[in-house]
Amino acid sequence: MTARLLPFLDDSIKPAPPTLVTITVDGIPTSGVAGQSLAGVILAGGTLGFRRTSALGRPRGVFCGIGVCFDCLVEVNGLRDVRACQRRASDGDVVTLQHDGLPSGDAT
Ligand code: FES
Repeated sequence: MTARLLPFLDDSIKPAPPTLVTITVDGIPTSGVAGQSLAGVILAGGTLGFRRTSALGRPRGVFCGIGVCFDCLVEVNGLRDVRACQRRASDGDVVTLQHDGLPSGDAT
């Protein structure tokens, strides 16, 4: 899958040339264009599951795409619980997919 479905030179809107950004997703370099959300870049890189549910370990990814469901939580540059669909990708972002287990319940 590419970041752009329409070849740049064939786009009748004639947008400015795209600026490429490169992020890493779990250590794997992934390219996109400036202005794309992190979710868009991660999806274009072929990753569908951004996190796993705590109880059953089921994969979750982009569901609503508008910041409501929180299924797209990832860690970005060391900051946890970032909604990938709501943050624009910046060159050099380091994204780590989140797979947290249930809390132990040992609140000491
Ligand atoms: S996909 Fe629903 S909050 Fe990001």
